[in-house]
Amino acid sequence: MNILITGGTGLIGRALCRVLHAEGHTLTVFSRHPETVADKCGAAVQALASLDDWTPQRHFDAVINLAGEPIVDAAWTDRRKKILRDSRIALTRQLVERIARSEQKPAVLLSGSAIGYYGGRGDQELVETSGPGDDFPAQLCIDWEAAAIEAERYGVRVCLLRTGLILSKDGGLLARMLPPFRLGLGARLGDGKQWMSWIHIDDYVRHLQRLLNDEQLSGPFNMTSPQPVINAEFTRILAMVLHRPAPLSAPVAMLKLAMGERAALVLEGQRVLPARLEAKGMLCRYPDLESALRAILG
Ligand SMILES: NC(=O)c1ccc[n+]([C@@H]2O[C@H](COP(=O)([O-])OP(=O)(O)OC[C@H]3O[C@@H](n4cnc5c(N)ncnc54)[C@H](OP(=O)(O)O)[C@@H]3O)[C@@H](O)[C@H]2O)c1
Repeated sequence: MNILITGGTGLIGRALCRVLHAEGHTLTVFSRHPETVADKCGAAVQALASLDDWTPQRHFDAVINLAGEPIVDAAWTDRRKKILRDSRIALTRQLVERIARSEQKPAVLLSGSAIGYYGGRGDQELVETSGPGDDFPAQLCIDWEAAAIEAERYGVRVCLLRTGLILSKDGGLLARMLPPFRLGLGARLGDGKQWMSWIHIDDYVRHLQRLLNDEQLSGPFNMTSPQPVINAEFTRILAMVLHRPAPLSAPVAMLKLAMGERAALVLEGQRVLPARLEAKGMLCRYPDLESALRAILG
């Protein structure tokens, strides 16, 4: 297949490019830094510097839309919130405009979203039919999904990737957690009762491959392992795998002071279940956290 990937230089995108290239697909990555694409994604991967270069005559069989400014990195000022929204929603709208104009439409659009769609929901088990939350991340995901689903008007199959916390040795959540945990300074966050719905990056990429190829699949998919854990359990298992103690607890007041509104990302969680993946027989090789962390950390 001839595949266009936005966000292909990111944590998920790089892993995906490796696998799709090995399968023989032709890959083009849209990037604000096209000169870095060959280095990050592989020498055979082409770079697209501007969506204007996607002319109506140019054909992609599939589009995978993963672009988005990192949500946790900077305070959510009004300016930052606009950047977070534009990098997802405005970009997705532009993609759909290109799809609308293309002479031969892609067969499928796999488009990013996140489990933040559900908002903070305590112990409630969340499947794809559960309603959305009402905080900033939830609205971001609602609008991001709404922009992507527009592609269905043009006969494109659309899958919405409600992505959980990606576990990878190359970045993301673990890259932030490992330095203090390796020093024996791992800490649960607040009371540690908030749910963390995670997935091993290899399982995520395998699910993406199936969503790409299986013409029967469309709509939202919770992209998580079937065994979410509360933060205290995540802390305990990570410390155990690293053979380090994790005796500390980060006080809620300190996290709120340091992170402001973003503290909701770490203090409120979602107990998400991959109901639709499992209904389609799409199982994880690493369903439990200990096996996933051992596979990643060796
Ligand atoms: N990793 C997770 O745990 C997780 C969890 C839930 C949801 N997600 C979502 O899944 C997507 C991929 O995640 P990831 O971890 O691979 O993200 P990542 O490593 O932060 O990479 C995101 C990519 O998006 C592109 N990007 C950033 N800002 C952009 C902008 N303003 N305009 C256009 N492109 C922009 C960047 O590509 P260039 O710099 O090359 O332009 C970057 O490589 C993201 O949208 C993220 O929100 C991730």
